[in-house]
Amino acid sequence: MRLTNGLVGLCTLCAVAAPAAAGPTRRNPKPTYQSHPERTAAVKAAFQRSWDGYYKYAFPHDSLQPISNTFSDDRNGWGASAVDALSTALVMENNEAVQQIIAHIQNIDFDTAVGDISLFETTIRYLGGLLSGYDLLTGPLKSLSTNKTQLDAVLSQAKHLADNLKIAFDTPTGIPDNDILFSPPRRAGSQTNSIATIGTLVMEWTRLSDLTGEPVYGELAQKGESYLLDPQPKALAEPFPGLIGTNLNITTGQFLDGRGGWVGGDDSFYEYLIKMYIYDPVRFSSYKDRWVLAVESSIKYLASHPVSHPELTFLAMYSGTTPLFVSQHLACFDAGNIILGGLYLNEPEYIEFGLNLTASCHDTYTSTATRIGPETFRWQDDGKLLSTNSSGNPPAPAAQAEFFKKAGFWIQDGQYVLRPEVIESYYYAYRATGDTKYQDWAWDAFLAVNKTCAAGSGYSAIDNVNAADGGGFQDFQESFWFAEVLKYFYLIQADDAEYQIQADTSESYVFNTECHPLKKYSKSY
Ligand SMILES: *[C@@H]1O[C@H](CO)[C@@H](O)[C@H](O)[C@H]1NC(C)=O
Ligand SMILES: *[C@@H]1O[C@H](CO)[C@@H](O)[C@H](O)[C@H]1NC(C)=O
Ligand SMILES: *[C@@H]1O[C@H](CO)[C@@H](O)[C@H](O)[C@H]1NC(C)=O
Ligand SMILES: *[C@@H]1O[C@H](CO)[C@@H](O)[C@H](O)[C@H]1NC(C)=O
Ligand SMILES: *[C@@H]1O[C@H](CO)[C@@H](O)[C@H](O)[C@H]1NC(C)=O
Repeated sequence: MRLTNGLVGLCTLCAVAAPAAAGPTRRNPKPTYQSHPERTAAVKAAFQRSWDGYYKYAFPHDSLQPISNTFSDDRNGWGASAVDALSTALVMENNEAVQQIIAHIQNIDFDTAVGDISLFETTIRYLGGLLSGYDLLTGPLKSLSTNKTQLDAVLSQAKHLADNLKIAFDTPTGIPDNDILFSPPRRAGSQTNSIATIGTLVMEWTRLSDLTGEPVYGELAQKGESYLLDPQPKALAEPFPGLIGTNLNITTGQFLDGRGGWVGGDDSFYEYLIKMYIYDPVRFSSYKDRWVLAVESSIKYLASHPVSHPELTFLAMYSGTTPLFVSQHLACFDAGNIILGGLYLNEPEYIEFGLNLTASCHDTYTSTATRIGPETFRWQDDGKLLSTNSSGNPPAPAAQAEFFKKAGFWIQDGQYVLRPEVIESYYYAYRATGDTKYQDWAWDAFLAVNKTCAAGSGYSAIDNVNAADGGGFQDFQESFWFAEVLKYFYLIQADDAEYQIQADTSESYVFNTECHPLKKYSKSY
């Protein structure tokens, strides 16, 4: 452990019992950070290549299909890649792209939509992108903002969008319907919603309230969240303290299952519990208490070591109290999130645990033919959580036995769709420790992705990370490639800045789940 302070080992009680308004008091020492200009230049070049392809063949539609040089309106046709790219173009100080995006934002027609609208996706990509753009353009990157009319439009468009989305919360319980339609705004009528899609709104909607002075947005999201903070019925909904089920009935507010983990469908609910405390420790202290419970239970009940590589740590999923030895690229954000919480709560054990998870996600990259990690993977637990060779803990299938022996996991779904989570955890590991090996891991991953996924006019999702050439292109460049992957690849090698995470928690920003930096409430006034 690089980080040392007065607290050693577990400190659940002191974290839970901290006075609501106290916030972090002790500080972790700040390491010396290194910047690598030749690496940041290469990442900026990858951004430019992706942006140019998008701007030429897809703008102002949502996503580039880089091989067919056409577009997809998979995010309602408002220019998802442009809005998602804004905060990355800003931190890279790519003035031309910034001006192109700002000019676009004032023209978006948020009253009409292509297709059904996902409240969750619209919130994290569009609302998050707009609010982050506004926070950066009125803060450390204000030199890139030239026109007050256009700047004001960034915030007013965010408010306009949220005003149209508000209908989603018009349910008997206040738990939002994730599916909406526009012209006029109306609910699609879903009966259920999941904890990720309910619990990953509160940062953006609260920030919108704090920026506009209109409390209604934050109140709506916090009301939906309240059912996740006190999950009912207890016996079904919360198999381990703080670790909860996935789906709720929108009409009753009751959970429908007790299955979950740090995986897709659940993931960013846990992420935002600690990030809301970071955003404002006064209002969101109880969210932090729930996060601490979830992390303590994860260390105790979900930390699993593959029988072939017991030095690795993956977090199991669960169905009730039964562990399931399967995880995802998506879940690899957990490492960075636990490190971040460890910094704020002064819990060296959390940081060490998060670094262990980071190293294990690194193994999912370095073990494949492309040196990129798979979408879904499995392993056989070493027998500590469930006895080896029992029906819930079988050996690797014969065809994967050799791979499992070598790697410590086997591949269930080998595609890579330009996801960020492993690089995200390298970023937090680096910022927490200053250990340059994490910069090297990120650079290695950049070279692998840059080589394997470069296709046509941009970058594409691939079919098989364990085929040397990636096994085929899906002809699709997700908007989060701009928002997240390129930003983490860049920031981990870049100069220090006000929005960079700091080991002593002195940064002014907290990143939403789409890697859009939002200004902390305490730094806003
Ligand atoms: C600022 O942008 C608005 C909207 O695009 C435009 O009408 C106006 O002329 C611009 N002002 C300046 C000073 O460039
Ligand atoms: C949700 O609860 C309502 C009211 O009890 C019930 O009518 C409906 O069938 C439930 N839906 C699901 C999917 O459980
Ligand atoms: C991290 O991994 C090391 C090596 O396997 C192990 O000794 C240590 O206990 C782990 N730390 C935590 C907090 O799990
Ligand atoms: C589990 O089964 C494999 C064969 O499939 C065997 O090699 C191994 O020894 C068994 N492990 C235990 C602990 O029984
Ligand atoms: C990244 O890929 C592009 C496109 O193939 C290539 O031109 C560039 O040299 C690569 N960058 C590095 C650092 O390998």
